[in-house]
Amino acid sequence: MAEPDIKKGLAGVYADTTEISKVNPDTNSLLYRGYPVQELAATQPFEAVAYLLWHGDLPTETQLAEFRTNERELRALPENVKTVMDALPLTAHPMDIVRTAVSIVGANDPNAEDASDDLAKAFNLFAVLPAIVSYEQRRRRGEQLVEPRDDLDYAANFLWMAFGEEADPVVVEAFNQSMVLYAEHSFNASTFTARVVTSTLADLYSAVTAAIGALKGNLHGGANEAVMEVFQEVGEASKADAWMQTALDEKRKIMGFGHRVYKNGDSRVPTMRAALERLAEHYDAPETLAMYTALEQAMADRKPIKPNLDFPSGPAYALIGFDVPIFTPLFVAARVTGWTAHIIEQRANNALIRPLSEYTGPAERHVEGVSAADLPEDTSTITEEA
Ligand code: COA
Repeated sequence: MAEPDIKKGLAGVYADTTEISKVNPDTNSLLYRGYPVQELAATQPFEAVAYLLWHGDLPTETQLAEFRTNERELRALPENVKTVMDALPLTAHPMDIVRTAVSIVGANDPNAEDASDDLAKAFNLFAVLPAIVSYEQRRRRGEQLVEPRDDLDYAANFLWMAFGEEADPVVVEAFNQSMVLYAEHSFNASTFTARVVTSTLADLYSAVTAAIGALKGNLHGGANEAVMEVFQEVGEASKADAWMQTALDEKRKIMGFGHRVYKNGDSRVPTMRAALERLAEHYDAPETLAMYTALEQAMADRKPIKPNLDFPSGPAYALIGFDVPIFTPLFVAARVTGWTAHIIEQRANNALIRPLSEYTGPAERHVEGVSAADLPEDTSTITEEA
């Protein structure tokens, strides 16, 4: 038999088609349902982008107003989700808490198994995740839950629930842009995980819970947290160059740089970097921007590896006031829209995702003392004649 052609990490493999987004590394572009993500981030509230990912088109004004009304009704943290969150140790990573909270939201849904209801489930998770993520930050700080406001849009309400005060419009805009940029990115590891789980005909909540697990790792969503650890480790911009040299000499992977698909730069970075610049001005934090630029330059001087979205979004979230372990849960709140759009798409045209593996373990061997005669005979062979 010919040697199988193994694509380690599935790199370069097309696993299916999708109508949801297109990543084109040659033109450095990312389209959601055909729209360049930069245009969406510059003009659209996150609610409209969620609508676009699920329905295929941007909403009309009336559709958006109805969508927002419905979202406002589902914002509150369910009582038993809060009770379970309160019972969990503060030593657990917030991603573990969010994963557990999503499981409880699923258990609360009497129609959890009804796949025809996937859009309603997706909407429910989208609406409630800001409360889960915000409360997790507050709980870790020893602060009380802040109830949602129904006079604020998604991004402004999210910041209200996290900090208990109304955010400046500059901050709301930057945060909204980060949500739009994080919403969707084709067959990334967590989305593919969600599609694998869906392909077994499991329910949407199981698929989202699995996706949260996949997003947690530093090579994927966890990188936005790891970027801040780099900023903290380097300390100040003047030390970035020497730090980079040592880190690369030690063959470390520098968090926030590089991408499996984009090799000439991540199309989402310029928008998020501009948002970071506005935040740095708003918070009078030039040192954050200096560190960003110094690290980017230090890498460029040594390797042609460009920053990815996590590089500007990590420091942006830190300036807004989020604690570092909350950064990846923020990514969950955004990406749940993309995940669920993919779950619905997978379900509509399903094939069980089950690749092959080339076995490299020991050759066939037998347990001592066991002979074929001791084992039940295989009687299931039905020949065509029979
Ligand atoms: N820092 C240092 N070197 C890096 C690097 C990074 N962040 N990303 C890639 N490289 C180097 C590799 O060491 C490798 O060099 P080599 O050929 O000399 O061995 C080369 O670039 C190719 O990298 P590889 O790991 O094969 O690319 P990949 O497509 O498998 O990896 C990532 C993509 C995202 C996993 C990788 O870039 C990475 O680990 N980045 C840091 C984590 C991160 O920011 N993740 C968020 C992604 S959105």
